[in-house]
Amino acid sequence: MRVLVVYDSSYGNTEKIAQAVCSGMKEVGLTDVECKKADATGPEDFKQAGTWIVGSPTHFGGPTREVKKALNIAFQTGRKDVKGAAFDTRYAKTFGGASEKIQEMMEAEGVKIIAPVERYVVTGGQGPLVEGEEAKAVSFGRRIAGSLRSA
Ligand SMILES: Cc1cc2nc3c(=O)[nH]c(=O)nc-3n(C[C@H](O)[C@H](O)[C@H](O)COP(=O)(O)O)c2cc1C
Repeated sequence: MRVLVVYDSSYGNTEKIAQAVCSGMKEVGLTDVECKKADATGPEDFKQAGTWIVGSPTHFGGPTREVKKALNIAFQTGRKDVKGAAFDTRYAKTFGGASEKIQEMMEAEGVKIIAPVERYVVTGGQGPLVEGEEAKAVSFGRRIAGSLRSA
């Protein structure tokens, strides 16, 4: 069953996290994984994947416009029994992040959340990521693969 990891990224930090999540999944033998930037996704990508892992930089307390657009395309496919999880990048001190909003949007459409949101911290607007965040994302990928296997 295919897993689609969709992300947006203005400066490359969320992209690094998305790639780390994908490599964590692949490390533990989940090979049918596609890692795609939100503006490159279309309905077929979402139709073909039973699991949607969605990540975004936090912009004004929520996901970017491209991520919201991709999610709306995803929901319009009408695909049922989808599993999902969300992650974001953000400042250490922030009042809210993109991942909680993404999770809310997915839950409202009946996506079954299989892992709590993951938050990855950047030291400045353009990064870099705090040390250890990419390793944390690899573990997140492994964990998702594990929960899909035991489902
Ligand atoms: C327009 C804009 C708005 C932002 N708003 C927030 C915010 O509300 N909270 C926060 O923690 N970070 C905010 N940030 C910082 C982003 O979290 C940071 O740029 C992002 O994590 C970097 O990831 P990227 O390299 O993948 O784009 C904002 C950045 C931009 C450019």
